[in-house]
Amino acid sequence: MQSVAVIGAGQMGAGIAQVSAQAGYNVFLADISLDVAEKGKAGIAKLLERSVTKEKISAAERDETLARIQPVSDYAPLAEAGLIIEAATENEAIKRKIFESAGALLGGDAVLASNTSSIPITRLAQASPDPARFIGVHFFNPVPVMGLIEVIRGLATSNETVAKVESFGQRLGKRIVHANDAPGFIVNRVLMPMLNEACFALGEGVATIADIDAACQLGLNHPMGPLTLADFIGLDTCLAITRVLFEGTGDPKFRPAPLLVKYVEAGWLGKKTGRGFYDWTGAEPVPTR
Ligand SMILES: NC(=O)c1ccc[n+]([C@@H]2O[C@H](COP(=O)([O-])OP(=O)(O)OC[C@H]3O[C@@H](n4cnc5c(N)ncnc54)[C@H](O)[C@@H]3O)[C@@H](O)[C@H]2O)c1
Repeated sequence: MQSVAVIGAGQMGAGIAQVSAQAGYNVFLADISLDVAEKGKAGIAKLLERSVTKEKISAAERDETLARIQPVSDYAPLAEAGLIIEAATENEAIKRKIFESAGALLGGDAVLASNTSSIPITRLAQASPDPARFIGVHFFNPVPVMGLIEVIRGLATSNETVAKVESFGQRLGKRIVHANDAPGFIVNRVLMPMLNEACFALGEGVATIADIDAACQLGLNHPMGPLTLADFIGLDTCLAITRVLFEGTGDPKFRPAPLLVKYVEAGWLGKKTGRGFYDWTGAEPVPTR
C-alpha cells in the first residue's frame, strides 16, 4: 500500500495525515473544502517546523513529509488510496454521508476506516459499500505523541481488513490493541467512569477540585488529575461519551454526574471555552471551586 486518504483535517485528521506521511505514505487530505484541507496541512507544517527547531527531525525530513501530503478538493483522487480513514466531526449523519460518497470510489481491495470515539462500528459499516472492508481505527490525541491505536472490528469486518490496518499501524510505530465493538471500546470504557466519578465526588462535596486532582495525580501516579484531564478533553465530549456508555450498556453505573451535565449546560466546556473546572484564561489554570 502506497497511499492513504484522510477525510477531516481537524486535530485528529491532521495528526493522522502527519504520522502517515512521516511513515512514508502518500496522503490525500480532504475536508469540507480545499481551503480547510490546506489549513490542516498548514497546521502540520507548523508542528514539523517546531520539531526541526528542537532538532527532532531534519529540515529535509520536514520537506519530504510535507511533499507527501496533498490537500484535495473532492474525493476523486481517493480512488488511489489503499486505506481511507474518516476523521470528521463526531456526528453519525456526517460520517454516513462521507462513507457513501468516499465508498463509491473505494478501490477493489481498499479499506474504509473510521476514527470515531463512540459510534458503533457495525452500525457505521452499514453506510459503506462493503462492511467486510470497514473497520474502526481509534487514534489518540495528540496523534504524533500518543503511541496507541485501538482497532475495532465490526461484526462483518474480515481478517484481511484487520491485517491491513495492523500493518499500517505497525509502520506508524504505534502499539495496536484490539477491542470488540462495545461502547467506549477499551480506553474510554475505563477512563470516562473515572472522570465521571471525580465529578460526582466534587458535586457531593467530598473534596475541592485541587485536592481531587492532587490526590489522583500523586496517589495514582497519573500525569494529571481527572478534573484537569476532563477540562483538556472537553466536558461536552466527556458527557457525550459517558452517555454512549450509559445508553449502550443500559447499566446505571455509567449515569452521568449531575454536576458534569450542569457544567455542559452552562457552556463551561473546559480549556477550549476558557472555563471548566479550572479558569484557563490566565497564565496558570485556577480551580473554580
Ligand atoms: N479529539 C480527540 O481527542 C479525539 C480522540 C480520538 C478520536 N476522536 C474522533 O476523531 C474525529 C475527529 O475529531 P477532531 O477532534 O479531530 O475534531 P475537529 O473538530 O478538530 O475536526 C473535525 C474536522 O472534520 C471536518 N468535517 C466536518 N464535516 C465534514 C465533511 N462532511 N467532510 C469532510 N470533513 C468534514 C471539519 O471541517 C473539521 O476540520 C471524531 O470522530 C472524534 O470523535 C477525537
